[in-house]
Amino acid sequence: MESSKSTHITEIVKQLTLDEKISLLAGKNFWETVAIERLGIPSIFMTDGPHGLRKARGEAITDLTDSVPATCFPTASGLASTWNPELITRVGEALGRESKANNVQVLLGPGVNIKRSPLGGRNFEYFSEDPILAGALAVAYIRGVQSQGVGTSLKHFALNSQETERFTSSSDPDERTYRELYLYAFEKAVREAQPWSLMVAYNKIHGIPATENEDLLHTILRDTWGYQGIALSDWGAVNHRAAALNAGLQLQMPGPGGRNSKELLEAVQDGSLKKSVIDEAVTTLLEGIFHVAASTDPHASYDHHVHHNLAAEAAQEAAVLLRNERSVLPLTPSAHPVAIIGEFAKHPRYQGAGSSQVNASQLDIFYDAFLEYYGNHSHIHYAAGYRHDGSTTQTLIDEALHTARNAEYVIIVAGLPPSVESEGFDRTSIDMPAGHNELIAALAALGKKTIVALQNGSVVTMPWINSVDAVIECWLGGQAGGTALARVITGAVNPSGKLSETIPHRIEDTPAFPFFPSKSGSARYEEGLFVGYRWYDKRDITPLFPFGYGLSYTSFSYTDLHLSSRALVDTDNLTVSLIVANTGHRPGKTTVQVYIGDETGAVLTPVRQLKAFQKIELSPGESRHIDLSLTPRDFAFYDTTLHDFRVPAGKFTIYVGDSSVNLPLTSQVTVANVVPYLPLVDETSPLRVLKDHPRGRNFYEMIANNVPEGLRAFVDEMPVGKLSMMAGDLLSPSTIEKIIHHTNTPGSVDPMFIPEKLAKFAHWYHQKTHQRSHRK
Ligand code: BGC
Repeated sequence: MESSKSTHITEIVKQLTLDEKISLLAGKNFWETVAIERLGIPSIFMTDGPHGLRKARGEAITDLTDSVPATCFPTASGLASTWNPELITRVGEALGRESKANNVQVLLGPGVNIKRSPLGGRNFEYFSEDPILAGALAVAYIRGVQSQGVGTSLKHFALNSQETERFTSSSDPDERTYRELYLYAFEKAVREAQPWSLMVAYNKIHGIPATENEDLLHTILRDTWGYQGIALSDWGAVNHRAAALNAGLQLQMPGPGGRNSKELLEAVQDGSLKKSVIDEAVTTLLEGIFHVAASTDPHASYDHHVHHNLAAEAAQEAAVLLRNERSVLPLTPSAHPVAIIGEFAKHPRYQGAGSSQVNASQLDIFYDAFLEYYGNHSHIHYAAGYRHDGSTTQTLIDEALHTARNAEYVIIVAGLPPSVESEGFDRTSIDMPAGHNELIAALAALGKKTIVALQNGSVVTMPWINSVDAVIECWLGGQAGGTALARVITGAVNPSGKLSETIPHRIEDTPAFPFFPSKSGSARYEEGLFVGYRWYDKRDITPLFPFGYGLSYTSFSYTDLHLSSRALVDTDNLTVSLIVANTGHRPGKTTVQVYIGDETGAVLTPVRQLKAFQKIELSPGESRHIDLSLTPRDFAFYDTTLHDFRVPAGKFTIYVGDSSVNLPLTSQVTVANVVPYLPLVDETSPLRVLKDHPRGRNFYEMIANNVPEGLRAFVDEMPVGKLSMMAGDLLSPSTIEKIIHHTNTPGSVDPMFIPEKLAKFAHWYHQKTHQRSHRK
């Protein structure tokens, strides 16, 4: 089947003229690819993504609002807070169905860039600060969409961490941080779900535009990860078309190619672009185009209501209950007078701005949904408290205070106005508008039972946190967010969201502060691997709410941790088992999180890192045995001398719990290397690398044993090549060379293992160091 399709494509490629091939390699217009009718090559339609379909109705590309009605799901920060891959797959399936019903063959999403700073302008569109969570959810999303025969575009590949200078800035992390943290989610999604395409980012990477970055697009993406699909440019990301093609980018978007196509022809003529590179790109592209075009179905349709209900389900699982003093929530329906305060209660903030903006097919209003779920309308009063743009006035605050005065419960819906978070710029502060904070503080001072519900796509500070009773982080909940919130507040749904990013007390505590965003053309990622909870743990900074955290109306116990083995070799998997029980009185869901702490000392590592998780639902009193699987890669780090991942030998701690800081179960495991790890030694290697080396150990001991205790550390750091400076003729540069050769070559003869030579050297060396320490 595969091969006959490929033969078909090979035949087509043979028949295409060079001009036709070049025309195929850029879009026909903003959204479509070029068709070539004489050879039956169809045009396909791609559009945004990620949390709903944005298919433009009009011609004007700048009008982001004139698109077909579609279901608006919660944005990525909300979806990620569900920690529920199965649910994300169902959202993906729905997105696929809507794409198909609108004759869209490729949906541009999901976005998996790591949230380096809470100021990131597109944080609402990205899943997490953690690559394991982001990667697992991306796999689920891609599988869902692609199960409908619709393609995805995993974006923005790679290191698209800031909006400031987004077209020009270079992202320059160290190699290990790049591979372990920023590429991981892409790698996992590519290996496990083969997205139809990857959208290559605007920014440069180590000075080279991502779209021209051969290391990224070829060596890493294809050679190492085995990617088969299409690398297409983010809209307008191509600078030099020939360089991009040579690097491994197939499709320039949008089109038409214009100047760039001319440049391609010239590059072919002057030999800087081989025709075989064009053929390869066209073949890859056509494989993808024919694949998704085959699923086009003019009769495809979907059920709006079913999708709306799914959007509500996603929003209610996304809601994170951050605080619930004296179990103020859930609110028993009908029982008490309630004041609902906040413009967002009637005019919600439910999605972000920019290319992902969906024309929601319907919109649930929290205020209306609350009336429905709470009942007893005469008990409910409303005041706006602030304007939709986030500003407020004393009159609005006074009105809110007046409304709240006779209530027993005050529900305040607040958050971020649309103007502060969008594609295209970064936030300048993580505070909510002063008007929202003043309003909350003033209402809390009334001493009522005060509940705050937040609508925002990226984290906010909460200066009033200790004076309110409950806080629900709703994120940007999509079109059914209002219903979801009413269900959570009244207990129709038990909240189960967990934070997919840390909420800090203040911007000064965050990992990339004060370097974010870079305005110098180069973002250096000074915090390295220490992003999100990896930072807070290492620096021992207590955040406002930690990664992985979220409350429930019931309680759970985690017991009986068991590891399938306590002594592993580096090719083994490890099964982590435990028993989880619902010890409260309501059905509910919890998310079991497994973290690994590397205690081998091989390299600097975060205190612990999330490696596996599982969300489960339990009835009151029910308990369940859970197995989570860890693979060798989960124990590995990226070794910059090997340019590959490797598992260090030694001890690891396995932590299990329900947030990055509440990890009641721990156990240790020892890992050994099947093939002992032997570093490659050269003349710059410090002497200590020979210490545990089977062929270097003799030499190390000979030196170390003759050095007074206090000088050991000094000599340990001495580059092997420099030792001859100390030992003169006895350890000539050529002897050192032989020692290095012997260390790196199994079966070779130890040049020092000539007894007389050894004895002579030892004697001389002892005297020399003895004299030196004597002189002191
Ligand atoms: C954004 C992409 C988006 C594309 C098409 C770009 O500006 O960065 O995320 O998919 O436009 O709208």
